Amino acid sequence: MEKICVVGLGYIGLPTSVMFANNGKKVHGMDVNEAAIKKIQNKELHIEENGLEERLVAAIDSGNLTVSTKPEQADVFIIAVPSPINEDKTANLEYVRLATKSIVPYLQKGNLVILESTVPPRTVQDVMIPELVESGLGIGTELLVSHSPERVIPGKVFEELVENSRIVGGINQESSEKTAELYRAFVKGEIFLTDATTAEMVKVIENTYRDVNIAFANELAKISENIGVNVWDAISLANHHPRVNIHLPGPGVGGHCIAVDPWFLVELDKKNANLIHLARQTNDAMPMFTANKVKEIMDSEQIQNPKVAVLGLSFKANIDDMRESPSVEVTKHLNELNLEFTAFDPHIHEINMANQTTDLKEAVSNADILVVLTDHNEFKGLNPTEIGKLVRSKIVLDTKNCLERTAWEDAGFEVRVLGDSKSK
Ligand SMILES: NC(=O)c1ccc[n+]([C@@H]2O[C@H](COP(=O)([O-])OP(=O)(O)OC[C@H]3O[C@@H](n4cnc5c(N)ncnc54)[C@H](O)[C@@H]3O)[C@@H](O)[C@H]2O)c1
Repeated sequence: MEKICVVGLGYIGLPTSVMFANNGKKVHGMDVNEAAIKKIQNKELHIEENGLEERLVAAIDSGNLTVSTKPEQADVFIIAVPSPINEDKTANLEYVRLATKSIVPYLQKGNLVILESTVPPRTVQDVMIPELVESGLGIGTELLVSHSPERVIPGKVFEELVENSRIVGGINQESSEKTAELYRAFVKGEIFLTDATTAEMVKVIENTYRDVNIAFANELAKISENIGVNVWDAISLANHHPRVNIHLPGPGVGGHCIAVDPWFLVELDKKNANLIHLARQTNDAMPMFTANKVKEIMDSEQIQNPKVAVLGLSFKANIDDMRESPSVEVTKHLNELNLEFTAFDPHIHEINMANQTTDLKEAVSNADILVVLTDHNEFKGLNPTEIGKLVRSKIVLDTKNCLERTAWEDAGFEVRVLGDSKSK
């Protein structure tokens, strides 16, 4: 039976390990996070993902999955470690380099090394290969190497691991073919073969496309406010064109993918990455735009010392992940504008910042404006009449166009929507 060693057991590495283990492979997962390893050994989760718990239990009980803080010899090594950006927006490839270095003592003739992390084009060639050379194995002959970027969305990982198409980019044809053969253990989607650098570029392009598209939507939102248009209606109608697919505006772009990966291209070719850079700056400026809008509304309503209720702290709907969340940036700007606020998110059960509460009532009590920053189902389902009894002023700013506007208006609220001139 083929044995796989998975390096990095986070949101990507753990589900991948479980998938292979439950599809007939022997898997050894390793992670430098001892607490995570202890939990996994006890069949407990250190991350949330639908369907992961029962699959993890099955994988461990079958004897196909073991985990520890050290790599083991195997036929295939899969690396799924973080690839963030530094403060100065340059790529931090130390996790990838160190993970690669850590497997070198375990490599044997005939092994295959696959990088799944999202990385700047040329990382396999310029960061991994120089480490792998230390094994003394012939690169491309005795040691095969490839990149197969992960495209799953949190919450639907197990469906998407199976159904999504996959890009496989080897350093040579043999590396690509061996990698594709491995993933066929569970992938039902199409598998496309290319070279390693193209595969790296494909994944970064995908996230950059989405970032640029959102920046376009954000720009349209600002223009619409100034020219008497509701951008949500306009985009929805434009998207009926068979070749138009505009994303939606909002208070900014967050998470560790879309807000990060375009910087890889800016760093690699700053001179030419103009549109990409501007899109990043446009999206990064949206939290400030949103905070300024709150201030303008409070000023125009002549509300002295207003209290703001910030609703939503995660970077997107119905998840508990605050990484790179634009909501956090909005609160920083509210602070700078000397606006008092209380922030609440139904998915976040720990206090991560000042002026945060885990109690909706506390957040909205005596508020002069509700600022909806994420389109959680819980916010869509709020009862405006009940909320109206708690607030001081009945004003709501909906940055995601997710509230039932007429219901809120019927309950006496003045509803402002980002990108809608009628509520400017
Ligand atoms: N999470 C997603 O939705 C998603 C989707 C597509 C691609 N990706 C990409 O996949 C990669 C991994 O993302 P993630 O969300 O799984 O990250 P994560 O932070 O959830 O998990 C990474 C794990 O790697 C471990 N690690 C760090 N250095 C290590 C080392 N040297 N050896 C062993 N383990 C090490 C960490 O302890 C952590 O448990 C990133 O490049 C990310 O951009 C993530």
